[in-house]
Amino acid sequence: MTKKVLTTSAGAPVSDDNNSISVGPRGPLTYDNHYTFEKLAHFNRERIPERVVHARGTGAYGTFTLTKSLKEFTIADFLQNEGKRTDVFIRFSTVGGGQDSHDFARDPRGFAIKFYTKQGNYDMVGNNTPVFFLRDPSKFPDFIHSQKKNPRTNLPDPRMAYEFWANYPQALHQVTILMSDRGIPASYRNMNGYSSHTYSFWNEKGERFWFKWHFKTNQGIKTLRAEEAAVADPHGTQQDLVEAIDRGDFPSWTAKVQIMTEQQARDAEVNPFDLTKVWPHDEFPLIEVGQLELNRNVDNYFAETEQAAFAPSNFVPGISSSPDKMLQGRLLAYQDAHRYRVGVNYNQLPVNAAKCPVNHYQRDGAMAGLCPAGGHHHQTSGANFYPNDRDDGPAPDQAVAEPPMPVEAGAWLDRFDTDEEDHYTQAGNLFRIMSDDQKQQLANNIAGGLGQCDASVQQRMLAQFEKADADYAARVAAALKA
Ligand code: HEM
Repeated sequence: MTKKVLTTSAGAPVSDDNNSISVGPRGPLTYDNHYTFEKLAHFNRERIPERVVHARGTGAYGTFTLTKSLKEFTIADFLQNEGKRTDVFIRFSTVGGGQDSHDFARDPRGFAIKFYTKQGNYDMVGNNTPVFFLRDPSKFPDFIHSQKKNPRTNLPDPRMAYEFWANYPQALHQVTILMSDRGIPASYRNMNGYSSHTYSFWNEKGERFWFKWHFKTNQGIKTLRAEEAAVADPHGTQQDLVEAIDRGDFPSWTAKVQIMTEQQARDAEVNPFDLTKVWPHDEFPLIEVGQLELNRNVDNYFAETEQAAFAPSNFVPGISSSPDKMLQGRLLAYQDAHRYRVGVNYNQLPVNAAKCPVNHYQRDGAMAGLCPAGGHHHQTSGANFYPNDRDDGPAPDQAVAEPPMPVEAGAWLDRFDTDEEDHYTQAGNLFRIMSDDQKQQLANNIAGGLGQCDASVQQRMLAQFEKADADYAARVAAALKA
């Protein structure tokens, strides 16, 4: 076998990679060791900041195939014609732990999909749960801090999590999911994905519909019990996904949507833009629309998975946001994180670059390059401003103008304290459909962490469980005693 010639980062052939130039065999090194210095200096710069949340993850490429046209609801190009295939990149993750934490933490799982459509990238940045702990973005840093390590001891501290939850009852629904038997997926292949938020479609006539994504695993739901997770391989879910794809056992999900008209939203009893609540399936049935398959592993984990930059604001014509307050917080947070973590031109990296022409008047910045996909307008004709008189200067297209977003008539600006709203019915409904074994696992899982908390936190949590279902509180109380 003839090996490729080793080179410097500038491409020059290297004659010796093992021995630096020294003054005699026992002597010191000299300044002409620029090659050794290049290696050491690059090594010092190998890290970029890890994601502040969802730091540990696994990514892969695949395809989304539309099986039911959504033309009636949206002009989005990739949702028009049945059979249409769209390339995707998906990154799964845990939320709270750092890059070197455990794959089998009791934690929600991130489920982020980048659809490389003809009209630009559309990102669905969801989780494996249909709801979340919060509904106001201002609480996100507080909530995440309560899940992270104790700032003094640098150790996991379940007392912080329960102290936050005891003071913030709107989290109860998601806490019930997290502490249930679904709290630790056995693999990324064996879990569902949800947009969780309400988003909107709009169609050719300018009509808007609210919708939620559901991606149901075709591998079936599999989970680990707490005692199984405690002895599981910390790299288990990374290994499971990479090996399944390598052997051609491609995991897939059935894509479904729930859709609500503007009038139904006005009439809905539960606020359809409240991220702590689900939409009842009997009123808003799941409509099957496609198949999502993962079929290609990344070639380089850092270049692709680590530098992947998803943003809930990456919409395409026909898809947009909603009045969900949490979603609005997210619409600004992610690009800010990418500029800090990856760099201002993160969208030019191959994993993030659109597979359609990208034409704009943004200029320069660190690592600006010419995108191999033919995108990124670098003003080669000299047009770096708009409006201009040049034929090749890109111009906005009124045809993709979004219809006006409806807001509540006569609404006023204020801070609305929603603490008196019902945080308990949906958590109780979830508890009531659990089997006896599932209810007991839930109680035991809660008692594991809550048992380490002081009496006041325990009492406030028990009061929340009681409001959801008396049996929920009774079981947790008994598990705490045991
Ligand atoms: C106001 C609330 C939230 C804020 C401020 C927020 C912020 C962030 C930030 C800063 C990141 C790291 C981004 C990066 O460095 O690449 C992130 C990652 C992520 N977030 Fe959120 N988040 C919020 C709520 C949510 C919710 C409700 C979901 C799910 C429904 C979610 C799903 C994700 C996922 C899946 C990732 C990882 C994406 C990837 O794989 O790169 N987040 N979030």
